[in-house]
Amino acid sequence: MPTTDDVIRGLCPQPRQVQLSEDRCPLPPVLTWSGPAEITDAITLLTRRLAPALDVVPAPSHDAFLTATVDPAQPPEGYRIDIDTRIHISCGDAQGTRWAIQTLLQLLTPWVYGPGPLRLADLQLPQGTIVDQPHYPWRGAHLDVSRHFMPASFIMGFLDVLSMHKLNRLHLHLTDDQGWRLPVCGWPRLTTVGAWRPGTLRGHQPPPDTNDCDDVPDHDQIPHGGAYTIDELRAIDRHARSLGITIVPEIDLPGHTESVVAAYPALGCGTPIDHPRTAFGVSEHHINLTDDALAFCRDALDTVMDIFPTSPIHIGGDECPGKEWFTHAPTRTRLATLDITTPQQAQAWFEHHICDYLAAAGRQVIAWDEVLAAGAPEDVTVMVWRNADDIARAATAGHDVIAAPVRHTYLDYGIETGPQAPVTIAAPTTMDDVAGLHDVLAAVDSPHLLGGQFQLWTEYLRTPAQVEDAAFPRGTSIAEQLWTGNPARPLSDLEAQTRRLTAMGVNWHRMTRV
Ligand code: ACM
Repeated sequence: MPTTDDVIRGLCPQPRQVQLSEDRCPLPPVLTWSGPAEITDAITLLTRRLAPALDVVPAPSHDAFLTATVDPAQPPEGYRIDIDTRIHISCGDAQGTRWAIQTLLQLLTPWVYGPGPLRLADLQLPQGTIVDQPHYPWRGAHLDVSRHFMPASFIMGFLDVLSMHKLNRLHLHLTDDQGWRLPVCGWPRLTTVGAWRPGTLRGHQPPPDTNDCDDVPDHDQIPHGGAYTIDELRAIDRHARSLGITIVPEIDLPGHTESVVAAYPALGCGTPIDHPRTAFGVSEHHINLTDDALAFCRDALDTVMDIFPTSPIHIGGDECPGKEWFTHAPTRTRLATLDITTPQQAQAWFEHHICDYLAAAGRQVIAWDEVLAAGAPEDVTVMVWRNADDIARAATAGHDVIAAPVRHTYLDYGIETGPQAPVTIAAPTTMDDVAGLHDVLAAVDSPHLLGGQFQLWTEYLRTPAQVEDAAFPRGTSIAEQLWTGNPARPLSDLEAQTRRLTAMGVNWHRMTRV
């Protein structure tokens, strides 16, 4: 059995207050529980994880081994665990009950996160008290499923891993130039044509000045694509909710829409596009600004609002050159009647239309920081990725802000350099670099700062295994910083969490020994 000090060090994220002794509370072969409806999902999680060793069954409260109460006086997502010869947990809300169970599981062997076998004799909790609550309400991971399609089964497992880290948002980047992954009623070619490209760029994207806008003919000629069914996306949403995670679907508009134009040329600006883009970088080609294009955008947004009934909606807004709008006669005519003369003004007009539509539906609207320049409505939550100074600037302008600074949170950047390192968009982004997120967040003293997230763009991450290698343990450090608000701990302190990742079958990155 590990010492209590080791058990405490292994908790990840570290709780706010921990007092645990060397006394142990062995789990019984039939673990009885009692509590309000808010604890149902948490009990399902406990049952799933401990099933190889014991049964978890409901019981009257005076008999139960584990009792739970919900105390609204506690902070959102907060929890308290008291362990003697039984367990009592008290939480502010249902979310807190889930995090309490994750912490309980982390007091046990890492193998509770694996498929089994588990020995009951190994399941002993230290006695004492833990009191905990998160520092930031938005603690997220982003996953690009457009550049490389990731199967729904992978996303389901990835959600389990995020929840183990007490992350509570999964931002799904569902659409981009290289593939559209969402069925939209009335627009069938999005998933028959817009979801498939004939190949993928070989090697590395040439620098922007040599290849800013044109697609690369010399691709690998391996067709790539795929789209989710509505049922798969609903199942992802259900699983996420059960774990306390909100899915944040992104429909990237109006730029990054070459796949739409491939499927429906009439929505483009006249440049012939035969298929979704095989290269990466910023495309010059995107949807036009006609009524038909706006109707298409509303249909796509209606689809994600229907599948994800309470989710915030991310509308992209990044990297839209917009020059093409002035070459497309119907769009040019519309812009002229609006007295619009620059791409930036045109994008601002578009964003207002889309934001009004989503706000009328009662949704939180999120967009990348490019929309600041375009004068986004104040109620848009801004996701700052380029310049960390814009976090404070956006907050001062009255926007809620999510920190996603490229320097500290873009985990598609390689963790290592050297001859063995795979091709990545750039490298390295080390553990020290992700630890730098803390200072960026701490410098912003504003209630508008909701928190942050790490990003997994998949231009060069072709498989789930590569995504996992990029995500962890750097994502573990980010998750812990967002929960605690404290500086990052060294990698050696995250070892217990990497053992849990191993138990879950996650292909986390082992540093090359030199
Ligand atoms: C982005 O990285 N284009 C948001």
